[in-house]
Amino acid sequence: KNIAIIMGGYSSEYKISLISGNVVYQYLDKTKYNGFRIHIFKEKWVYVDENEAEFPIDKNDFSTTANGTKITFDCVFNAIHGTPGEDGLLQAYFDLIGMPQSSCDYYQSALTFNKRDLLSVLKPYGIKSATSYYLNKGDHIDTDEIVKKLGLPCFVKPNKAGSSFGISKVKTANELPIAIEVAYKEDNEIIIESFLDGTEVSVGVINYQGKIIVLPLTEIVSENDFFDYEAKYLGKSQEITPARISEEMTQKVGDIAKRAYEILKMKGFSRSEFIIVDDEPFMLEMNTIPGLTTESLIPQQAKAAGISLEDLFTNAIELSLK
Ligand code: DAL
Ligand code: MG
Repeated sequence: KNIAIIMGGYSSEYKISLISGNVVYQYLDKTKYNGFRIHIFKEKWVYVDENEAEFPIDKNDFSTTANGTKITFDCVFNAIHGTPGEDGLLQAYFDLIGMPQSSCDYYQSALTFNKRDLLSVLKPYGIKSATSYYLNKGDHIDTDEIVKKLGLPCFVKPNKAGSSFGISKVKTANELPIAIEVAYKEDNEIIIESFLDGTEVSVGVINYQGKIIVLPLTEIVSENDFFDYEAKYLGKSQEITPARISEEMTQKVGDIAKRAYEILKMKGFSRSEFIIVDDEPFMLEMNTIPGLTTESLIPQQAKAAGISLEDLFTNAIELSLK
């Protein structure tokens, strides 16, 4: 079977995506699949062969022609973090042309990628999140009102982005306008959240061989102010799997993440982030195209569960082909 591994994307996360995509390519079970690396950038959609030669993708049927031979794909393995791979745009395109793909469908992708909408959909189900304040580019910024509602410190985040790009922890009211400006560089909507002082855990939920399972939880201890880009990818954090929390709490957080997966009718990968404050988990977000680099959490969690990367990727491909 021919598997198109898509990577790159239009957001600041493209570098992480290229690493994730290459890990998928490297660990693809070669006895079952032929992997093809496809770079998707604003300027070009291309198949990149083993000699790094590039061949354009025909967007009518997502095929390519390399050295005179037309290549079609049986399935797309999506390794694009951020837009257009994690927010539903490509999912809708693949759906339209009838191409099986490994991630959530377009609606689930769009919904989960939007932090405000995700958290408000889950709220009536009893899934708690931080108190928040929402702004659109051009809106008047009333710092007094924000501080009154959320207190300090608070977190300013792009509403639709990943890898902590554009996120700031704000400690004084006069830092707010700059933090808001930084967040607007990534997205034209932002969400400001109250600070949750607790233990951060990351919960992987996947459909594995037909069953929705919770992977061992990871506890995140950042050396920086929060789990920012540097902490995530440049080693400035400790990631402890399994998390050092009680069995009851492990079960409780795992159940919430799994319930969210089921409520939203997700498929493929998901990784939800929580902060546990006094025995109460608060959800920060869900990622539908979680990082798959060797430093990333899902590969670490799968390993702790005894699932090899080959098996993890084979499972995702087989599910999408069903
Ligand atoms: N957005 C990054 C890639 C993650 O969730 O791992
Ligand atoms: Mg994220």
